[in-house]
Amino acid sequence: MTTTEQTIHHGLEGIVAARTRLSRVDGQAGELTIAGFRLDDLAPHATFEEALFLLWNDRLPTTRELDSLRANLATHRQLPSSVTSLLVELAKEERPIMDALGAGIAALPSTGDDADAIRLVATIPSILGTYTQAMRGDDLADPPSNLGHAAALLHQLTGDTPSAAATRALDTYLVTVADHGFNASTFTMRVIVSTGASFVAAGAGALGALSGPLHGGAPGPALDLVREIATPDRAEPVLRERLARGERLMGFGHRVYRVRDPRADVLGDAASRLYQTDGDQDLYHLARHVEDVALRLLREHKPDRRIATNVEYYTALLLNGLDVPSSLFTPIFAAARMAGWTAHAREQRAEGRLIRPRAAYAGAERRTWLPLEDR
Ligand code: ACO
Repeated sequence: MTTTEQTIHHGLEGIVAARTRLSRVDGQAGELTIAGFRLDDLAPHATFEEALFLLWNDRLPTTRELDSLRANLATHRQLPSSVTSLLVELAKEERPIMDALGAGIAALPSTGDDADAIRLVATIPSILGTYTQAMRGDDLADPPSNLGHAAALLHQLTGDTPSAAATRALDTYLVTVADHGFNASTFTMRVIVSTGASFVAAGAGALGALSGPLHGGAPGPALDLVREIATPDRAEPVLRERLARGERLMGFGHRVYRVRDPRADVLGDAASRLYQTDGDQDLYHLARHVEDVALRLLREHKPDRRIATNVEYYTALLLNGLDVPSSLFTPIFAAARMAGWTAHAREQRAEGRLIRPRAAYAGAERRTWLPLEDR
């Protein structure tokens, strides 16, 4: 191994590439800190707009500031007609919703960083709502102007004004996943902003990074597992068989969180509150039972590890309780993470330094050029 090769950090693993005041992921302690708040303290109380203000300004908003942010988001919800037309065309081709979301974001106008940041956050629910309506063949509805971000998002997807319980549950979800250190999409956002490109260009790039299965996550499959088990008595035999086949149980384990995933705990509490009034009770109780059995079997299977329930499991349950189909799980994650992406974009713009790592060349040397006819 050459000296150059020894210094390669494949996947940039362990490399600290920037300072951030936005979030800290502490895998050993099982804690997530968002701008100074433990997630467990922030997510059950904050609305999405409060978390957004916190990430953008490093403090909680006053009533006036919060009202002004809510109004600003509502004003920017309306999509440009060119974006609406594009979404209608893509719906005719029945393109996957993540493709439509990426195209919709990329087609947004860019008019400066602050306006772009508001527009990116405000329009994701409109893009998802318009696309969902177009796919269903419904008349396209104007986005609501009198609802907060979480309620407006649900309204745009379902056409109904959600209950206070449903709105609170979605706010908790959006806050929980609003930011999470230097993950692949956040890093993509910062790389693109570091070139001097617009926040809109960076937002489209970040969404592209999120569209891959290694980042976009496993909430759909986690719910599929519960549905496949179908009745409590089947949980143990089905899970045992999967583990015996060497399969991984979706919704359990995490590369970074080694003792607990704080997001799973917060979303688990939110789900238990939501399912008191909304959602499919049988599915909820089955999922709790499947979780208990899975954790017991995973302890048996890997006694030296502490494999815990991860964020994906309760994301699936919570969003399902809100009647959100699994095709929208990752797009709604993007709606939440746009808060973190835009906050990182601002931080990167303030830093003003081009992100430009190096690669160790491992190709051929000193080749001799051959004219086409001699090859
Ligand atoms: N089911 C069965 N076995 C598991 C699971 C699981 N969910 N998670 C870990 N293990 C086993 C591994 O097979 C491995 O066994 P081995 O040593 O015999 O190969 C051992 O435990 C390794 O455990 P860790 O080092 O703790 O886990 P690792 O870092 O390798 O993997 C990962 C983490 C990829 C998330 C894994 O737990 C997994 O595949 N989980 C299921 C998929 C899932 O839910 N993904 C979403 C994660 S959340 C997120 O990314 C936002």
